[in-house]
Amino acid sequence: MAIEIRRATAGEMEQVGLMAAYVYGGAFGDGADNITATSMRPEWTLCAFDGAKLVTSFGTFPFTMRANGEAISFGGVTAVGTRPEYRRRGLVRKIMTQAIQDQKDQGQSVSGLWASQAAIYQRYGYAAAGANRHYTVDTADIRFFDGDGGACAIERLSMPECIEPAKGLYRRFIANRFGYLHRSSILWAENVFDGSSSDGPVYMALASDAEGPQGYVAYTLRANKVGHRARAQEIKIRDVAWLTLDAYRSLWSFLAGHDLVGRVLWENAPVDDPAPHLFSEPRMLHTDDREGTWMRLIDVPAALMNRGYLPAAEPTRVSFTIESDALAPWNEGTWALELDGQGGKAVNQVEPSKDSLTLSVKTLASLYTGIHTALELSQAGLIFGPLSAVQTANAMFTTYFKPHCPDHY
Ligand SMILES: CC(C)(COP(=O)(O)OP(=O)(O)OC[C@H]1O[C@@H](n2cnc3c(N)ncnc32)[C@H](O)[C@@H]1OP(=O)(O)O)[C@@H](O)C(=O)NCCC(=O)NCCS
Repeated sequence: MAIEIRRATAGEMEQVGLMAAYVYGGAFGDGADNITATSMRPEWTLCAFDGAKLVTSFGTFPFTMRANGEAISFGGVTAVGTRPEYRRRGLVRKIMTQAIQDQKDQGQSVSGLWASQAAIYQRYGYAAAGANRHYTVDTADIRFFDGDGGACAIERLSMPECIEPAKGLYRRFIANRFGYLHRSSILWAENVFDGSSSDGPVYMALASDAEGPQGYVAYTLRANKVGHRARAQEIKIRDVAWLTLDAYRSLWSFLAGHDLVGRVLWENAPVDDPAPHLFSEPRMLHTDDREGTWMRLIDVPAALMNRGYLPAAEPTRVSFTIESDALAPWNEGTWALELDGQGGKAVNQVEPSKDSLTLSVKTLASLYTGIHTALELSQAGLIFGPLSAVQTANAMFTTYFKPHCPDHY
């Protein structure tokens, strides 16, 4: 029987759940009702069926993502899995090809995912778009080089009273950042406030000054987690947002006040997090940067128009050629991005010129998110063209912050 690529029906979502339970080895639960299926709607799926049997699962969340001051429609690819006995027959490639067209049709100009293995997605034009910074620090080592521990008042809140203040602060925190999602209730519940794990209930410390709340840290606190004879408790940070550096310092100082905590773990900090600049012994953070989300430009001109740019003092223009994009051929050609210096932007298809850069759609994703500068990418042999154009691209694609997505999906 021929394999059919189509959306799952409501009655087939159980199979989607069981597929994810199996291919991810229970990471998200073992039952048919694990989070990968319960958070997904049938109309967001695109799966392969052999008769009535689901053989590949695939879904795309219709997220909204921050992109340097703008909100953009973003396809979050998830629940990708093929039964082992059906692998290496091109099923994911077939689905991905159709999914990229679907995302374009739905106005999702950028797509992202968490990759189980980078090799699978790089060939589809996805580039790393952030990293997850891990810190492991003893509360005894939380000290600032200049002795400034922040001056905010701290109030500790529990569930559910912490939800509304957190949502309000998060919205303001992510406004100019890149890669953060407009969190739905389900993302808040799963990634921040879920208190059902062995780490215990979720608390939130709110830092406020005379102007009101300026930051929060959401965390769990458990005894007997650390092999330390005096400080065996552990704090695991779920989420942090801050509007001022004074609030940021105050939140760390609050954590430092937990004398019985021998380990604070923060496993989804952004790579441009300020702690290493502020700690008196930054090495005691035991920083470990790990792979984060990956992104692909689905529709190059729309993605370029939808993103925010830093205010330019004068008009600037860069053009670049994408020679081939087999999965999204509408991206091929030479594109000119122009900023008029007064907040206006334009993207047009143009003829290549001696000033044009040449890069792949994957490299353009690296430039687009701000994870790497044009200069770094040209030094890695991924952008070709005159140095003056590389320098212009460097300036035009600069982001306020390094890209980051603290939410797994
Ligand atoms: C990843 C997975 C979904 C691929 O499914 P599949 O139906 O075998 O996919 P395809 O046959 O279309 O192969 C997809 C592409 O990835 C490549 N690929 C697959 N697994 C790979 C691996 N482990 N390492 C490197 N490349 C890999 C294939 O060569 C193929 O490349 P091509 O399209 O250029 O020929 C499947 O192996 C799986 O379920 N793995 C376990 C769960 C998982 O990792 N899911 C992804 C979560 S982000």
